[in-house]
Amino acid sequence: MAKKSISDIEVAGQKVLMRVDFNVPLDSSGAITDDRRIRGAVPSIRSVIDRGGKLILCSHLGNPKGGDDHAACSLRPAAERLAELLEQPVAFAADTVGEDAVQKVSELADGGVVLLENLRFNPGEKAGDAEFSRKLAGFADIYCNDAFGTCHRKHASMVGVPAAMEGKPRVVGFLVQKEVQYLSDAIASPQRPFVAILGGKKVSDKIKVIENLLGICDKVLIGGAMAYTFALATDGKVGNSMVEPDRVELAKQLIAAGGDKLVLPLDTHCGDDFSGDCNKQVVPAGQIPDGYEGFDVGPETAKLYASMVADAGTVVWNGPMGVFEMSPFDEGTRAVAQAIADSSATSIIGGGDSAAAIQQLGFADQVTHVSTGGGASLAMLEGEVFAAVELLDEA
Ligand code: 3PG
Repeated sequence: MAKKSISDIEVAGQKVLMRVDFNVPLDSSGAITDDRRIRGAVPSIRSVIDRGGKLILCSHLGNPKGGDDHAACSLRPAAERLAELLEQPVAFAADTVGEDAVQKVSELADGGVVLLENLRFNPGEKAGDAEFSRKLAGFADIYCNDAFGTCHRKHASMVGVPAAMEGKPRVVGFLVQKEVQYLSDAIASPQRPFVAILGGKKVSDKIKVIENLLGICDKVLIGGAMAYTFALATDGKVGNSMVEPDRVELAKQLIAAGGDKLVLPLDTHCGDDFSGDCNKQVVPAGQIPDGYEGFDVGPETAKLYASMVADAGTVVWNGPMGVFEMSPFDEGTRAVAQAIADSSATSIIGGGDSAAAIQQLGFADQVTHVSTGGGASLAMLEGEVFAAVELLDEA
């Protein structure tokens, strides 16, 4: 069911508490090295301030444990970057629900913005503490969740605060709206054939995604190092490849459950050292020689997967096909990315490594949707229902 969005409600003169995901990477000098998450929230932020709302932003950054962590995890650089992007001052509160936050919130003018300090400096955030939730909720007339990357968390700002604001408008921001539209709604009623391509290192990381997508997809194509655990499950030889011996039984069960829906690689590009200029061979899947390690799917697999993508109505991709950071073992991932870019299917790229790969390979603007969430996008592909979204108002 679609959720009410920030553009559906009046905000003029109202205090809006917006949970954003400003969990951006910082270098050792505290400078932001990638501001995409801040830029991603700007449309929702603008929607409030351009219509005369008073905006209170809150986020976490990292996982502060205390001590020096606090200095390294301050959101102050994010406030400075946001002020540059908005070309207007952004106030910064040195605490979350303390004196400075109360004062800065009370000073907000219509169209003004304050960013509270890192929510996780308060232990109540991760604990989902009711008192902390109540204090945050007390700041505002309206709650907005635009923190997709954190939607799988049940922390105070994600669940406790909107729960405490029952009866007041509780809406999604544009980022969350778009992610839910693609990662949940498009997957629930896909154009067929619906093809999923799943890569990455470990079967154990992807079990629930494979199980969920086998239930709704027409084909689930496997790549990445987890293919070598599947090769072991079919009595293949994997040389020195990265495998999870304790997941071989599970791989056997997935192969049996998947039938011809589950497609395993035909061949493997392997090498005798983790380096681009090692000795290399392309061998049939499950025939990796001793002393060699699988680093990518081979060209026959890339061709097969590309042809399946070309015929698809919907494609979901999560996880690279090989070591895409190291040429020539980026070829399988590149072939799949190229096929997705060329196809007219609705194409959804899960967050984390596959989002990084599609960006690095230059195809990000030729796909339908690239998720901004890592763990959250994986959880959504697993079919998880997020309490942080569920309890918001229906459209
Ligand atoms: C992320 O980076 O995936 C989100 O900001 C969530 O962060 P967390 O895994 O520390 O909750």
